[in-house]
Amino acid sequence: MTGTETIIGRARRLLQHSRRAVVFTGAGISTESGIPDFRSPGGLWSRLRPIDFQEFLASDDARRLAWQRKFELDDAVGAVQPNAGHLAVARLVAAGRVSHVITQNIDGLHQASGVPAERVIELHGNGTYAVCLTCRARYTLADIRARFDADGAAPQCHCGGWIKSGTVSFGQAMPAFAMRAAEAAALACDLCIVVGSSLQVYPAAGFPELAQRHGAGLLIVNREPTPRDGIADVVLHGEAGSLLAALTADV
Ligand code: APR
Repeated sequence: MTGTETIIGRARRLLQHSRRAVVFTGAGISTESGIPDFRSPGGLWSRLRPIDFQEFLASDDARRLAWQRKFELDDAVGAVQPNAGHLAVARLVAAGRVSHVITQNIDGLHQASGVPAERVIELHGNGTYAVCLTCRARYTLADIRARFDADGAAPQCHCGGWIKSGTVSFGQAMPAFAMRAAEAAALACDLCIVVGSSLQVYPAAGFPELAQRHGAGLLIVNREPTPRDGIADVVLHGEAGSLLAALTADV
């Protein structure tokens, strides 16, 4: 560190020298919008066991439980808005400094903050709509909720297929198009900015590694330490909203 330069100063310099950054986000960028993350103390997985995809396919009870949980969580969280962290990322995209946001999140808040949908790569799908697993027909959550509240049955498509939230469950195939887009973005960037992820879930967590292996810088913004802190160029531990606002103050 040169002179009195702060860590945030080093992070700002890393960003200033970048011509084509990618932002990789996890649940931690959305906690300041009121959405709980998964692995912080008290996070979702400390209270709920994930329902994996094979279980969802095999068991009507699992399908009903999955929808019941989905609606309970949506009710508990309520209407959510992008926070300062999302808005800082959107400013970087609008300024042409970030080419894509690769996100593990399913909340749609990057798009809601103004990042064009074609710049958001959703590795784990999107929980703001539902989809038939057989014919891929899309359904609104309001439609599915009305049916579920009426009869408590796991919703089925007119084609007979099971309807599931538009997210990717454990054990479910990753979306091929998103995976290809994330790989291309990671290979083309000169800086990968990780925000709010424990970097524990693969293949998603492999993209910051891929970027770094191909010469990109790595900046991590996270409340807790991550397994890649030791090889990152700069690590900022703290709240994503305030750190990203400071990082992008002149963007
Ligand atoms: N600011 C900065 N970091 C934060 C904040 C915040 N306001 N809130 C939480 N964090 C950090 C936590 O310290 C944690 O390290 O964000 C990280 C979130 O990690 P996880 O809960 O593991 O979430 P994520 O990395 O997105 O999980 C990946 O796992 O369960 C699956 O599909 C799910 O997409 C999810 C994937």
